[in-house]
Amino acid sequence: MSLSKICIKPFVYLMYFKRLIRDTVGAFLIRNWKQTEKENVMPIEDFMLPEVLRIQGEGFENQRHDKLIKYSKNFKKIFYIIKSQNQVVGYSVYYIQLTPTFQGFKKKSVVCSISIDRNFRRKGFGEKLLEESIQEMRLNKIASVLLYVNVNNTSAIKLYEKLGFRIIKETKNICGKNERCYEMELNLV
Ligand SMILES: CC(C)(COP(=O)(O)OP(=O)(O)OC[C@H]1O[C@@H](n2cnc3c(N)ncnc32)[C@H](O)[C@@H]1OP(=O)(O)O)[C@@H](O)C(=O)NCCC(=O)NCCS
Repeated sequence: MSLSKICIKPFVYLMYFKRLIRDTVGAFLIRNWKQTEKENVMPIEDFMLPEVLRIQGEGFENQRHDKLIKYSKNFKKIFYIIKSQNQVVGYSVYYIQLTPTFQGFKKKSVVCSISIDRNFRRKGFGEKLLEESIQEMRLNKIASVLLYVNVNNTSAIKLYEKLGFRIIKETKNICGKNERCYEMELNLV
């Protein structure tokens, strides 16, 4: 076995362990999650998952079904779907992380994935889905919403900017191997 492979393995385990801790803490933090009144936006139910995975497949080249399946179980309350005439036309899923600051730990939410059915794009569904879910984040005292978007994904960047997100920095390898993406943030307090 080459030296690089030997070095990569502990790193992979460390990342896996970090994510496990983050998701366990995140799931604990949403145990008393409060819901806002929402029209056509609701938490995912198990029977909606195949439709959500289909929409994910349309939206992204490198789909990670396993991640959405896991989050639909562990973060059900903050895995939102949007309907049009009783049909699921999009989803957005978040996780919660604790971030250390000078004032103590802050709860931040991260948009893990968002996609709208190709036939329903440019009709305001993405905007509504984010607005409604962010409103719920506010109610639950989330300090800010973070997300990562590929630098070439102009439509998504425009949507996030319209809602008040600001680019904090450019980073690599989060939106895919060697892909450049922006970290964007919307402060809620
Ligand atoms: C990005 C995405 C979620 C936007 O959803 P949508 O429902 O089509 O967006 P909306 O109709 O709500 O548009 C709201 C605003 O976003 C911006 N926007 C959305 N699509 C745009 C496009 N194709 N070109 C330019 N601006 C666009 C506009 O500012 C728009 O406001 P306006 O209509 O007043 O101009 C959708 O294109 C999608 O699912 N893309 C594939 C998956 C993806 O890239 N997800 C983001 C990963 S970070």
